[in-house]
Amino acid sequence: MDTIKVEQSSFPDARLMFIWRSDPDIAGGYHSHQDFKPLVWEDHITWLMNRHNWQFWTVYYHDRPVGIVSTGGLDTTSPDIGYYLGEKTLWKKGIMTKAIRQVLYLLFMTGVNSVHATVMDNNHASIRVMQKLGFKKVHTARKDEGWYVLDLTPQWFQ
Ligand SMILES: CC(C)(COP(=O)(O)OP(=O)(O)OC[C@H]1O[C@@H](n2cnc3c(N)ncnc32)[C@H](O)[C@@H]1OP(=O)(O)O)[C@@H](O)C(=O)NCCC(=O)NCCS
Repeated sequence: MDTIKVEQSSFPDARLMFIWRSDPDIAGGYHSHQDFKPLVWEDHITWLMNRHNWQFWTVYYHDRPVGIVSTGGLDTTSPDIGYYLGEKTLWKKGIMTKAIRQVLYLLFMTGVNSVHATVMDNNHASIRVMQKLGFKKVHTARKDEGWYVLDLTPQWFQ
């Protein structure tokens, strides 16, 4: 049994996403939620249904769902990577770094050669994840938010 694995999210995972994204500690990591308001289930489902060219990956830790990696803009030359570990007791164990690496490998196998992520300048845990994976901050995305890129090569996965 793999300790950490990722699988494409299924519709029931929408409920877990709703619970996790309703947590201010998790939503607070995102630029879009700096002015935090509780999520509304119908809005959440509508948002998910409108994510064309996106895929969601559920992160499993010892076969238990614990977080999400999202991949958006899959029809572009540099898809967007997003992530949160819903189980906060598991933070700082290296889980998300490993999970993102697995998702990036799956993307690479489908021909993706570059990815990006946007990270708030005060989100030190997420910036550290970017650093550990080799992403580089190339410019500002929005106020107080950096734009990070990573080129995927066979060497990167060694
Ligand atoms: C960001 C997040 C996904 C990281 O998940 P994780 O599984 O804890 O990540 P990892 O353990 O792989 O790496 C986190 C690193 O940040 C470090 N870190 C955590 N909090 C930190 C802080 N406040 N300041 C500096 N470093 C910090 C950890 O020590 C670790 O680095 P290390 O391995 O060198 O010790 C998780 O904190 C989270 O879900 N946050 C809320 C949602 C969010 O912000 N998502 C990202 C939006 S861009």
